[in-house]
Amino acid sequence: MSHQPNKKECECCKDLGKSPLEQEEMSPGRRKMLGAIVAVINVGIVGAIVGPVMGFVTSPMNQRGKKGWVKIARIEEIPDGRATEIRYSMRTKDGYHVVDREYSIYVRRDGEQVMCIDPACTHLGCRVEYQVDRDRFLCPCHGGVFDKHGGVVSGPPPKGLIRHLVKVEGGNILLHREV
Ligand code: FES
Repeated sequence: MSHQPNKKECECCKDLGKSPLEQEEMSPGRRKMLGAIVAVINVGIVGAIVGPVMGFVTSPMNQRGKKGWVKIARIEEIPDGRATEIRYSMRTKDGYHVVDREYSIYVRRDGEQVMCIDPACTHLGCRVEYQVDRDRFLCPCHGGVFDKHGGVVSGPPPKGLIRHLVKVEGGNILLHREV
């Protein structure tokens, strides 16, 4: 009676002595490990491609508006005691394009005091017009009326006209804007 020892083979010794064809049939453990390596390599490749592409596509969305001071006029160009419409341009980024955009603003000067009033009506955004004889801003759309400093006098506007930050330096009127 022959005695067969209970011999256990480890994973790496299992294929010893087998033909190449037999060795090709991988054990489930090896297959699993190879699958994991391939998955890691695939994730790396996808990340290397998708990362830069997404960065390029979304970069304009991630760019916040720039803030800064813009020279809009010399103080002596603004008549005292009334509002004057000033047009100025600013270089802004529009998606992937850099464009020079035109803006307009009402500058009111009372002696040394300067105020910049946005012309967009706070009701639905129509452009208000300054009436010199009444020293008021009128909205042509629904009859909103604003006083000389942009406060609401009558009509549907829920609040006064927006006033932008402004300063005078060396005789230049500088407007603070975010674009
Ligand atoms: Fe100015 Fe309506 S948009 S009153």
